[in-house]
Amino acid sequence: MNTKMSEISANILSGKPIAEAIKTEVAKEVKQLEAEHGFRPALTVVRVGEDKASEVYVGSKVRTSKELGIISEQKHLPAETSQEELLEIVRELNLDNEIDGILVQLPLPKHIDENLILETIDPEKDVDGFHAMNVGFLSQGRDSLVPCTPAGVIEILKRSGIEIAGKHAVIVGRSNIVGKPMAQLLLQENATVTICHSRTRDLPEVTKLGDILVAAIGRAGFIRGEHIKPGAVVIDVGINNFSDSGAAPGMFGEDELENRLRTIEKRGATLVGDVNPKDAKEIAGSFTPVPGGVGLLTVAMLMKNTVKAAKMRRLKKI
Ligand code: GUN
Repeated sequence: MNTKMSEISANILSGKPIAEAIKTEVAKEVKQLEAEHGFRPALTVVRVGEDKASEVYVGSKVRTSKELGIISEQKHLPAETSQEELLEIVRELNLDNEIDGILVQLPLPKHIDENLILETIDPEKDVDGFHAMNVGFLSQGRDSLVPCTPAGVIEILKRSGIEIAGKHAVIVGRSNIVGKPMAQLLLQENATVTICHSRTRDLPEVTKLGDILVAAIGRAGFIRGEHIKPGAVVIDVGINNFSDSGAAPGMFGEDELENRLRTIEKRGATLVGDVNPKDAKEIAGSFTPVPGGVGLLTVAMLMKNTVKAAKMRRLKKI
């Protein structure tokens, strides 16, 4: 039979069953901690201002915590909160013996120095893994609290039976939240690692070397067929709104185009990643969808980090 390229379909790496499995493991561990040690891990999430995406993310973090038995509270502060006021709240949480995890949702309003806030969080309670001490531990390959999204990517790869050791992993994006820690984690798993960014020359030449390609750029559908090595594992970390129905046929395959157009019409936009899903489906060996891929793992890994932080601090073990 004559098989056209467009008929070849990559394996979809769904985040849902993996996130559910991790959450089930966390809930079991929380129960065990309560039964054997008389405490439940506690997480406080601080949100400043009215960023719409942050509201959704933080809501999901607090709701999931509660579902798993973790004690969780959101502190929502007005956009005018001063840097000093926020620092004082973080210091209080640091001293509160009942709190195991502190997460300050980013972005913060422009008048607040994000690095200063992140550096003030007690590294033992830094469930985001953004404190320089945890970043340093990660770079030394020592056990630490690791940023949730890249840690989630490793879980997807491992639990999907994808071999990492010896593979060439190419990461597009060099943020402190995803790109850089992702590189460290893949290196720790014995991959050969390349990081690309906005100044990389001949980007497709480099990304095409990737047996594993991680896209964390923040631009809808930026990674096209020309960037993908045939058969590669493509991990899409992006979460972007896509509203251009005219460009939709170039972004989505026939299998989902109609649904996507309906969503754009109804809600004004549909969620897409940094990878063009139509191209990924044709060229990759497997890929994570958006929505329904890596995003689901971020919250699950935050739950895991909260339990880890509680065990480290209260029991001096993990
Ligand atoms: N904003 C977007 N992603 C994140 C994250 O993983 N942690 C925090 N604190 N803020 C974010």
